[in-house]
Order: sequence, then C-alpha cells, then structure tokens
Amino acid sequence: MVMFKVARIKTTPYDGQKPGTSGLRKKVKVFVQPNYLHNFVQSTFNALTEEKVRGATLVVSGDGRYFSKDAIQIIIKMAAANGVRRVWVGQNGLLSTPAVSAVIRERIGHVGSKATGSFILTASHNPGGPHEDFGIKYNMENGGPAPEAITDKIYENTTTIKEYLIAEGLPDVDITAIGITNFGGPEGQFDVDVFDSASDYVILMKSIFDFHSIQKLISSEKFTFCYDALHGVAGAYAKRIFVEELGAKESSLLNCIPKEDFGGGHPDPNLTYAKELVARMGLGKSNAEHEPPEFGAAADGDADRNMILGKRFFVTPSDSVAIIAANAVQAIPYFSAGLKGVARSMPTSAALDVVAKHLNLKFFEVPTGWKFFGNLMDAGMCSICGEESFGTGSDHIREKDGIWAVLAWLSILAYKNKDNISGEKLVTVEDIVRQHWATYGRHYYTRYDYENVDAGAAKELMAYLVKLQSSLSEVNQKVKETSSAVSKVIHGDEFEYKDPVDGSISKHQGIRYLFEDGSRLIFRLSGTGSEGATIRLYIEQYEKDPSKTGRDSQEALAPLVKVALKLSKMEEFTGRSAPTVIT
Ligand code: G6P
Ligand code: ZN
Repeated sequence: MVMFKVARIKTTPYDGQKPGTSGLRKKVKVFVQPNYLHNFVQSTFNALTEEKVRGATLVVSGDGRYFSKDAIQIIIKMAAANGVRRVWVGQNGLLSTPAVSAVIRERIGHVGSKATGSFILTASHNPGGPHEDFGIKYNMENGGPAPEAITDKIYENTTTIKEYLIAEGLPDVDITAIGITNFGGPEGQFDVDVFDSASDYVILMKSIFDFHSIQKLISSEKFTFCYDALHGVAGAYAKRIFVEELGAKESSLLNCIPKEDFGGGHPDPNLTYAKELVARMGLGKSNAEHEPPEFGAAADGDADRNMILGKRFFVTPSDSVAIIAANAVQAIPYFSAGLKGVARSMPTSAALDVVAKHLNLKFFEVPTGWKFFGNLMDAGMCSICGEESFGTGSDHIREKDGIWAVLAWLSILAYKNKDNISGEKLVTVEDIVRQHWATYGRHYYTRYDYENVDAGAAKELMAYLVKLQSSLSEVNQKVKETSSAVSKVIHGDEFEYKDPVDGSISKHQGIRYLFEDGSRLIFRLSGTGSEGATIRLYIEQYEKDPSKTGRDSQEALAPLVKVALKLSKMEEFTGRSAPTVIT
C-alpha cells in the first residue's frame, strides 16, 4: 500500500472567492492560478464541522469540463491530508449534478452506502474549455447545495487563509478505471473508489417511473424521439437510459458524447443555444426535408436543466412543472400516493399556482435557487417543484434533474396514450399542453436576458426601479402613456422570503410589478454569471378565456414588453436596444 505524508503549505488569500447561487464560477485562467483551487477547497473543509471531514466519505466529480481532471487529483490529495476516509469518483470524473445528489443520499447496493458531502465540479450551463468557465460547489449530506451559512463561512475563510493541507507521496489516481485504490496516511487508511457514473442513477430512475409503459410508447412506430445532451455529462446517462433501457434508436441521441469544451457550444438547453435540436424539432428556421420527431429534449452541461419540446412546439419550463404536477399521481408510480406539496421560484409563472389550487395542494413561492426547495423537501412539505430557468425536479433528490424531467414527460405521454398506442394518431406534447391551457388557463410568459452588461449600470437600473415603486400613480402614468392594452399596476415590491422551515429571511430577491389582471413584470440580476452583470426581465400575462389561449406568445406579450422596457429605461441604462437571449 502506498503511504503518504501530510504537508502544510503556506498560502495567501485571493479576492473574490465568494460562492454565488451555485458555487464558485470563474474563468479557467483564474482557477489555474497557483493555490487558487487549493485555497477554496481548504476554506471549505475549514467551514465544515469536524465529523464532516475526518473519517468522512466525499463524492468528487462533475460535468467533465476542462480542468476537471486536474481538479479531481488536487481535491483527492487535499481530502486525504484533511483526514477524509474515502473519496468516491464517477468513472472519468463524470457524474451529473442530480447523480451526485442521488449517490450522496444512497449508493444503492454499496456497504456504508451514504456520503457526507460532495465537491461538484461544474459551471452548469456556462461554456467550457481553456478560455471559458470552471466551477466548484459543495453539497451537504442531504444531497443539496450548502446553505448560505456555510457558503458565507467558506468565503470568510478564503479571506484569511494562511495554509492548506495536501498529501505528499500520494500519486495521481487512475480515474478511467473502475475499482478501489487504498493508501495509508498518518491516521490510517484512505480509499479512492472509482465507480460507474450511471448504474446507481439508472436504478433510482427505475424505482420512480414505470419503464415498461415508457418502453411501449417508444416502441410505437408513431412515436419519434430526440435527445440533445449538448456534449454535456447527460450523454453518459442518455445512452444507458433511453437506448439500452427504453429501446430508443441510437440515432435519437444528439451530441451525447461528453466533451471538455462541450464541442465549443454553450451547453444551455434553451431555444437560443440548443440550435441543432430546435431545428430538428421544426422550430425556428423551417426545415422541410424531414418530419420532426414527436418529442425532443435537451440538457445543460451538468444535466440538471431540461428543455421539453414537441413537434414544432416549445413547452415553457413554467408550464412544464405545472403539467407534470397536474398529471403526476396518475402517470408516475412514485407519486401514486399523492403529492405532499408543490413549489416554484418567484419569477416562474403562476401556472403551477392554478394547478395547486385546483388540486388543493400545499403551495410555496421561493426565491430563485434550488436550495430553497431542499428545505421544504427535507421537511416533507414538497414533492414537485420547478423554475423558469429550465429546472424541474422532485424530492427523490435535492437538485433539479434534467433526465427525470424527460422521463416525467415520457410517462405522461405514455399514460395519455395507454389505450391508444395502436390508434390513428398519438396524443402529442402539443395536445397535452393545449388541453392543460383549456382547463387551467394559460400564462403567457417570456424572459429577456441582457447578458454581460456593465455591473454599475445594472445596479443603477435596479435602484431606479425600486425608487419608482414609491409612487404607483407615476408608474401608472407611464404605463398608460406606453400602451392602452396593459392593465394597472396595483403593487410593487422587492421579493422577500421567510423560510417556513428554519425561519431564515432572504431579502432583495427581485423587483416585482404586479398588475390588476394578474400580469407580472419581474426584474432580477443573475447570480450565476462569471463576468459583468446579467439583467433578467420576466414577463407574464394570464389568460383564462379558452378561446384566447392559442395566440403566439411574443405577440400576446408585446404590449407588456413595451411597458417593461419603458418603465425600466432599459436602453438608457444599459445601452442595449435588444436582449441577448429571449426564452
Ligand atoms: C442555478 C440554480 C437555479 C437557479 C438558477 C438561476 O441554475 O441551480 O436554481 O434558478 O441558477 O440563475 P440566475 O442566473 O438567474 O441567477
Ligand atoms: Zn446545470
């Protein structure tokens, strides 16, 4: 057995190691500076209680982006030196964020089957490669992201750090081969356990969904399917689940080979960045050569996000979670006993609220960020939740789950077609969504993103919008001058949340303008960018009349968009005449 010693290495703090909504995300060139990663990892160990480090089991893996392999070797050596007992690594360092959450909670069929926490190496949907982003975040023993008390402590530690611990004489571990390697340190044995990235996750999915009924749907000649992993880590799961387990054709998979630079693309599953899938599904530019598939979906770099498409049809994430919640009990065995409650983030449309009311379910509106759902789930108050930012999930883990969302939709399609598999025409994604609108009304919804604007200008715009709220008559004057098709603003505030479980209060969670007819305008600064500031503008309008739910959404929302841009003086503050992304 190879023996190692513990070395204490002197270091000095770096500025700006404050974890954002989902960990620390910076350009690779920032992360490769001497001791930069080391400082953050040691600051994390120092922020945890002793039993979370000494003798602990730690998962270390991620979406496979550039610099991950080096980072994994560094973290293994630092974990050993800090007294961690064993490190679990997905083969080739690959584990999706939901798969990490799942194996922390339970590594099925494995002795000592829970982990104490995890370093997840990802910058989610941000591009990767030597000139792009790297990221690291810490998840706790419940499988969810570290709460703010811990991330604040980590940050505080990064500002005062003087030394870190690292194992000397511990060679790089071969993470391409499955198996356990043992080492000996001053305090005893240390193991690195490299395991298959997908097996545990596949078992979990099979315990939630009825794979047999999905198989039947997929084997129907009328059903065609396409899944785009955008060269992210979802590729490591897609073949196993969709092809090997569910019988989809291999040609259904697009960009399913994980790459360090995501093939040069932007691994964000939306209408702008998932271009190839969008074209295949017959959306956007007309592609007359072939008939688009019935169902399409995409994932982001670490496979926690999802986009759901029908043939020539886009399902907004806000509608998606509402539709999953409305059908879960019938279509998904895991929920057959009923839902404990449902939740959405504040900027997500109120489509879920209407379902909750209709089905008499507990409902929660939380700030942006998955960790808020985790608290509700740990307390047994929430089964299904979702965000406008292409995140959907349930209490099977404590992260959103891109492949789970696809399986949820396939389950709903299978359920709606159960007596119809050999019928003339399948019930389609579009049919399901239109039927939902007819029952519950439709929330027209769009999001405008102004990426990488000057941080000072973005702050000024937000401050201006808060100040404007002090006089609603002035606001309504401006609304009236801009459009007669928009109703009156009846309330304006900055969203604040009191967590019903731990009583903690989160302030400044977005600026809201609420209208008499239920429309909403919301302005927020993104918490996930790595450069400059990103302003997000969320626009929503409710239509109850079934004869008016079929309009084009950009057209239906045009008057409200005009009001939003005028109210916020968007162009004046940012110099931008148009957003960078519209979803
Ligand atoms: C991450 C979090 C999500 C959150 C999103 C918001 O993906 O996991 O829970 O909705 O960031 O991103 P933003 O850029 O809008 O802060
Ligand atoms: Zn992600």
